Amino acid sequence: MDTKVVYLYEQNLDEETLIECGRIVREGGLVVFPTETVYGLGANALDGEAVKKIFKAKGRPQDNPLIVHIADVGSIKPLVKEIPEIAKSLMEKFWPGPLTIILKKSELIPLETSAGLDSVGIRMPSNIIAAKLIEESKVPIAAPSANISGRPSPTDMERCIEDLFGKVDYIIGGEKCDFGLESTVVDCTEYPPCVLRPGGVTLEMLQEIDENIYIDPAILKKIDETFKPKAPGMKYRHYAPKAPLYIIQGQRDKVVEKINSMVEEYKKENKMIGVIATEETKDLYKDALVISLGSIKDMKTLGKNLFETLRVFDDKGVHEIFSECFEEKGIGIAIMNRLKKSSGYNIINV
Ligand code: TXA
Ligand code: MG
Repeated sequence: MDTKVVYLYEQNLDEETLIECGRIVREGGLVVFPTETVYGLGANALDGEAVKKIFKAKGRPQDNPLIVHIADVGSIKPLVKEIPEIAKSLMEKFWPGPLTIILKKSELIPLETSAGLDSVGIRMPSNIIAAKLIEESKVPIAAPSANISGRPSPTDMERCIEDLFGKVDYIIGGEKCDFGLESTVVDCTEYPPCVLRPGGVTLEMLQEIDENIYIDPAILKKIDETFKPKAPGMKYRHYAPKAPLYIIQGQRDKVVEKINSMVEEYKKENKMIGVIATEETKDLYKDALVISLGSIKDMKTLGKNLFETLRVFDDKGVHEIFSECFEEKGIGIAIMNRLKKSSGYNIINV
């Protein structure tokens, strides 16, 4: 398939391109676009045949439902059966932004989009290109992250080209994603609402609206027989770099010491090691390819750089990756969730 690629400047949007891409979506095609979380692979959410193409392009498991993106709060009404008061409060506070709200779906949402479930996740992105594209398409847009299934989600246009060139009609580029981690998913089909996937809207922020909102216990644990996560997508090994990834958990100085001793070991076998570090610790490592995610004082930046860092290690062909751990508070919960999943829960305690 021919793929057109275009970069749009947020301050000076090319209306013609957005109108063309909107038409492609409406008529059943696939368009990759930036959002404030990660890049999305979009299709008309109301067209089951179009949505099937998303699953094919990504190699996505059929039982994993898609998030439906809208451009204004008014357009949610026909898509769902009812909107509980708590969901209204969350929308008012966090939309547009990185929050997906799950509600009981209406007949308008095809089973391809919801992967057979009777609920649907809805999100109103704040990224201006995403908002304009949805507006121009005149339909809600179903969009998973724009990566081949299992790979780290793309946070810039080049990574979308790498994964999806030749498989979609259009790739729209914009600035690097502001959050770099996928949206927080909160299930409002039952009370109290439950966080199924942590993200940029933190548990603490949600609890300011209602202190009873809680996080799916499976998120914080290794997934085994007894703990089944409620979001179908959370059970797969995800965000995975090519090399095995290990998280070293413990006090910072112990972590640095352990990573250095492991690097030393692997060096004897002539292996190239990648280390995920911070500004505060990056100079403490020797003989490894060290990438700093940013300062430990700025958790949002750590999250923003995580997926791209995993992809850089893929490019460099490192044999193993060792990562420091981060405090599971605020955005740190989302960062550690993605890290644990990328590592396949390979955690070394020191
Ligand atoms: O930030 C984001 O949400 C990005 C951008 C493109 O908006 N999209 C994204 O989509 O991350 P995806 O498909 O990679 O992840 C969707 C997650 C999956 O874990 C899926 O299982 C869950 O949301 N999900 C979607 N609809 C659901 C539903 N009805 N019930 C439970 N979980 C649902
Ligand atoms: Mg994804």
